[in-house]
Formats: sequence, C-alpha cells, structure tokens
Amino acid sequence: MATASVFEQVLDYTNRADPYPLYRQLRTTPVVREADGNYVVSRYRDIVALLHDPRTSSRDVVKLGGFISTDPPEHDHMRRLMNRHYGPPETPDRIDRMGPDLMNIVTGLIDSFTGRTEVDLVDDFAYPLPVTAICRLLGVPVEDEPRFHVWADAIVEGLGPQAQGFEEARRHADDAFAEMGQYFATLIDAHHQLPGEDLLSAMVTDDRTWEGMSRAALLSNASLLLIAGHETTVNLITNGMLTLLRHPDMLDRIRQEPDFVIRTVEELLRYEPPVHMLIRKALDDIEVAGTTIPAGATMQLVLASGSRDPDHVRDPDRFDPDRHDLERMDFSPEESQHLGFGGGVHHCFGAPLARLETQIALTELARRLENPRLLADPPPYRPNPVLRGPRHLPVGFDHVR
Ligand code: HEM
Repeated sequence: MATASVFEQVLDYTNRADPYPLYRQLRTTPVVREADGNYVVSRYRDIVALLHDPRTSSRDVVKLGGFISTDPPEHDHMRRLMNRHYGPPETPDRIDRMGPDLMNIVTGLIDSFTGRTEVDLVDDFAYPLPVTAICRLLGVPVEDEPRFHVWADAIVEGLGPQAQGFEEARRHADDAFAEMGQYFATLIDAHHQLPGEDLLSAMVTDDRTWEGMSRAALLSNASLLLIAGHETTVNLITNGMLTLLRHPDMLDRIRQEPDFVIRTVEELLRYEPPVHMLIRKALDDIEVAGTTIPAGATMQLVLASGSRDPDHVRDPDRFDPDRHDLERMDFSPEESQHLGFGGGVHHCFGAPLARLETQIALTELARRLENPRLLADPPPYRPNPVLRGPRHLPVGFDHVR
C-alpha cells in the first residue's frame, strides 16, 4: 500500500485533535498535487493571492448554494442586495442591536447549568446559541429550530473531503437542502404578508431586493445564512473555551479586562479557526510558487495552515492575544491578519455577528463558571476536517455564579 500523503494524513480522523504539525510539513512544499489531481496550497501569501485571483472560481465546487457558490459579477450583485439590510455600510447597527438579545440567550443558557457541576459545552451551550441567534436574525420561529439542527448537520457532513461514505453524505445533504428550501418558501410568503423586524422580512418587503433576485436565489441565500451561521460559530466558541481552559491565565484576564476578549477572539480565529480549508477551481492555468495549477483543477486552500505560517506571524504556534501582529488590525477584510474568515470577495458575510456572539459567550462563561476545568483533553472531535471542532467538550466547575 502506498504511504499516505501529508494531506491524506490531515484528512485522517486520527490527526483531528492536532493537525498543526502536519500543516507545518505541508508548508515545506507550498503547492502539492495529490494523486486525485487536487492541489493543496498551504502558505499564507499564496492563499491570499489565490483568494483575490479572479482566475479562481467557487462555482460548482463550494457546495453550499447561494452567493457563496457563485463568482463575480453575479456574486457581487447578490451580496450587495443581501447586505442592504444586514450590515455596513447601509445598516451598520442591525448586528449591534442584537447585543442585548444575544446576552439574554447566553444568560438563559448559563442559568440552565445551575445545580450542575458538569456540562457538555457543545450540546448544552455552543450549539443552541448560534442557532437561536441566526433564527432570530432571519425571523425563523425558534420552535422550528430542531428541524434546522438536523438539516444543518446533514449539509455540513456533505461538505467533504471525507475519506469514507462521501457519496451517501452528499445524498443526505441534497435532501436536507430540498427540505429546507421548501420550509423557507413558506416562511418567505408568510413574511411577505406579515413582515416583522427581521432580516428576511426586510428583504422581501424591499422592492429592490425582491425584484433584483429571483425567488429561488432568495431561498438559497436564506438557507446559506442559516447553514454558514450554524456550524462555524459552534466551533469558534468550543475551540475558544478549549484553548482558554488550556491557558487559564487568559481566562482570568477576560474576567478582569472586558476588552481583552476582542483580541482573544481574533487570535482564536488565527490559532484555532473553525474553517480549516476552502476549495476553489482554477479557470485558467495559474502559477503558484513555481508550480502551474492547470485550468479545471481544484485546489484546497488550507487557511488554518496559512494563519500559522511563520513567514507571516512570529512564533505562530503560540496562543497570544497580545501579539504585535494583531495590533495593526482594524477588522476590515483587507487588513485581517488571519484567514479565519477567508478573504477576497467571499470574505465572511457573518463576521460581525460571529464576533459579537463569541465575545459575549466567552466573557459570560469566564465570568460565571466558578473554577472551570476540562474533563477530557483532547476532547472527542467531529469527523469533519474542514469545519473542525470538538463534538463534545465536557467541562467541570464548582458552581454557577
Ligand atoms: C463566508 C468563516 C460565521 C455567513 C465565509 C468564509 C469563511 C467563513 C472562511 C469564506 C468562504 C469561501 O470563501 O468560500 C466563518 C466563521 C464563522 C462564520 C469562522 C464563525 C466563527 C458566519 C455567520 C454567518 C456567515 C454567523 C451568517 C450570518 C457567511 C456567508 C459567506 C461566508 C453568507 C459567503 C460570503 C460570500 O460568498 O460572499 N465564512 N463564518 N458566516 N460566511 Fe461565514
């Protein structure tokens, strides 16, 4: 049997808890052609260049639907229409206004720990929080959330590249998409007739959005927001608590210096990001670090490796929210010093919401759990190597404050 390539080892579940030594190995050959013809790109500067290269495409390869799976100019048109009611520059306060709501959700979840000395931070906290938040943003009734839980899981497992059972996972994902589309069709009609304060209502009652985007496009974009907001934030919160519990001095600083959490979340997006790689297709021959990626080939851009590239950040394997590299960061896509939210035209649309949710979540967990500690290290991971994070995170504590 041929030896597994470094990238195959990355995909292998046994390396899920710590893929970073493999990423270091990957970076010694910046562009690798795998046996299946897929190219793997692992250095910061090459990844950034490809994310901004109009010769790379997301169409047909990013399997989420909606504008994430399209290219400019269609992508930019749809993203602008969605953005009109979501965030900067037109309505910069929709996410800020969610602050008190998010705080209530977090407070309710932590209150529910009362009387216990052990929780699973994934199932009991990090999963319900983003689901409730995104349902509230979109105007999905919270009682329908369990259905989204099932659909989102199926879709995420179909994102691959998994080693086994991939065909079946894709079939489940397609079924889930279809069911969710039907659900949203009904919801959009309801919001059209009786609009609320939510994002979907704002979009369906705005003639420019309604006329500028087909009904099918609106449906798939609504599904995209739900999925993209679902599975990523879970992992940022759990990777975040895992890292903080491994660095208790940092958890203390979050308790003492309220603003410290902002830098902590940025460093987490670099150090333990929820999205480890993105896929793109080459539309033309593209030369990268002396290798030509031929037109038609697919490539994996290993974001989590790029964010730990020593040519980009000093001492990359150290978790250090005070790092000097972050001081220049003004949170704009162009200036981001990490690849946690991707880059280029597809830079994460939900970044302001994800940041706010995670900042509130980590602050409140730090403040309210007395003497928190990890009950399993490393914790068991989910199988997915792309959207990577613990499946469970058992945490013990003395009591809830
Ligand atoms: C795109 C990461 C939360 C909505 C992306 C991309 C990354 C990412 C890496 C780039 C994908 C690509 O280029 O192919 C994350 C992380 C999150 C997060 C790490 C949480 C910590 C959210 C939330 C939402 C969201 C909460 C929804 C409200 C989107 C959308 C895109 C996207 C719609 C596509 C943007 C486009 O194609 O222009 N995200 N995301 N994300 N994200 Fe997020």
